[in-house]
Amino acid sequence: MAKARSQFICQNCGTIHNRWNGKCESCGEWNTLVEENTSSGIGAAPGKSMSKGHAIALVPLSGAIEDAPRIATGISELDRVSGGGFVRGSAVLIGGDPGIGKSTLLTQASAAFSRAGHDVVYVSGEEAVAQIRLRAQRLGVADTNVLLAAETSVENILATLKTTKPPALLILDSIQTLWTQQAESAPGTVTQVRASAQAMIRYAKKTGTAVVLVGHVTKDGQIAGPRVVEHMVDAVLYFEGERGHHFRILRTVKNRFGPTDEIGVFEMTGKGLKEVTNPSELFLSERAASAPGAAVFAGLEGTRPVLVEIQALVVQSTLGTPRRAVVGWDTARLSMVLAVLEAHCGVRLGSHDVYLNVAGGYRISEPAGDLAVAAALISSLSGNPLPKRGVYFGEISLSGAVRPVAQTGLRLKEASKLGFTSAVMPVAVGDADKAVSGFDSFEVGELAELAARIAGSHHNEKQ
Ligand code: TYD
Ligand code: MG
Repeated sequence: MAKARSQFICQNCGTIHNRWNGKCESCGEWNTLVEENTSSGIGAAPGKSMSKGHAIALVPLSGAIEDAPRIATGISELDRVSGGGFVRGSAVLIGGDPGIGKSTLLTQASAAFSRAGHDVVYVSGEEAVAQIRLRAQRLGVADTNVLLAAETSVENILATLKTTKPPALLILDSIQTLWTQQAESAPGTVTQVRASAQAMIRYAKKTGTAVVLVGHVTKDGQIAGPRVVEHMVDAVLYFEGERGHHFRILRTVKNRFGPTDEIGVFEMTGKGLKEVTNPSELFLSERAASAPGAAVFAGLEGTRPVLVEIQALVVQSTLGTPRRAVVGWDTARLSMVLAVLEAHCGVRLGSHDVYLNVAGGYRISEPAGDLAVAAALISSLSGNPLPKRGVYFGEISLSGAVRPVAQTGLRLKEASKLGFTSAVMPVAVGDADKAVSGFDSFEVGELAELAARIAGSHHNEKQ
């Protein structure tokens, strides 16, 4: 019998330490090391009962390939994000803040699957059967053939599944509540989460069932514990959204069978999640009459153009260190744009408080947002409103140059479709990117050109 050996595992990053420490040396987090017994189960030394290995067949790299067999959900936004539906035998992790709508989304997806004639099993470790039924009633999907269970033991779940034909889709809500006898630590610890996930992924590969694992995310956007699951699964999707805003975004972080830059947009209503097929209309719907400091950014999410309003407010600061408050954008990028404005355009904001907000609670991750942010800042400082029917996009380099971005044509087409008539953008490179007919495009090579254009006669602001 192997001696029981305890190790200290960081609950944040999964690093194994031999001694307890206040701080994890790998990820720098404090108080995350937990003693876990690893004498058996995953990561343990091979026990006596293990059989000897047997030879496997080696095959050439070339050869016939089958297309990954997919089962479409019928919820088009979910299908787009997963790359055309869930792949049989694959494991997907859906992460998100508690209360964001993961269970709602998966209940609706289960119902859609079931209506399409597939077997679905929904296992919840968080809610009682009655609660799940209540939600299904509220969502109007209680009449579907989804099979339910409230269970947390991996062994019990696997034993139950053995008694029936493997379902097409198995949902485990959530991975943090699962536990297996294979690991000796408490449920929710890294070892338990990893061992449980591994057992369920093995089940997926063996039977061809698509397994969906739900994972709760901590406030700083990391999947606590389940982060270690990220590299074990085939796809990782994040469900995000701002509290107080009704729309939700499903984003791909990793996908072995499809694109990783797609988003699906949903609206949380009283009757569950509704697909939003034209997100730009949603983000721009709150747009007020033309006021200084508002610029529309023609962005791109994967293959889909998204138009969203950026709002800036610049006010004289009374503080020694002016405030910079940013919602929906990167603070470091704002500092960069401010520095470029000051160094290359003579726009001085060093003694001003700067507030930046992306409307609707949307989050911009594209560098192409730089130009729209700069336009909003200059507009707020100068008090000159920007043209109401204009869009902005382009990356700003530290030298003050406006750099080209991908898919100019797509951005312009979307803007035109939504009634915009002009764009301020980088100098177009290819003919394919040339303007859409009836669209007024103003190509800027340097940020200073844009500053001069907006500030107009307000030179007094530039000192
Ligand atoms: P839920 O799916 O339980 O979140 P998660 O599984 O990610 O923790 O969703 C919880 C929130 O969604 C809850 O605050 C209520 C809201 N909601 C609606 O607004 N409409 C609905 O039809 C449903 C089912 C939930
Ligand atoms: Mg839930």
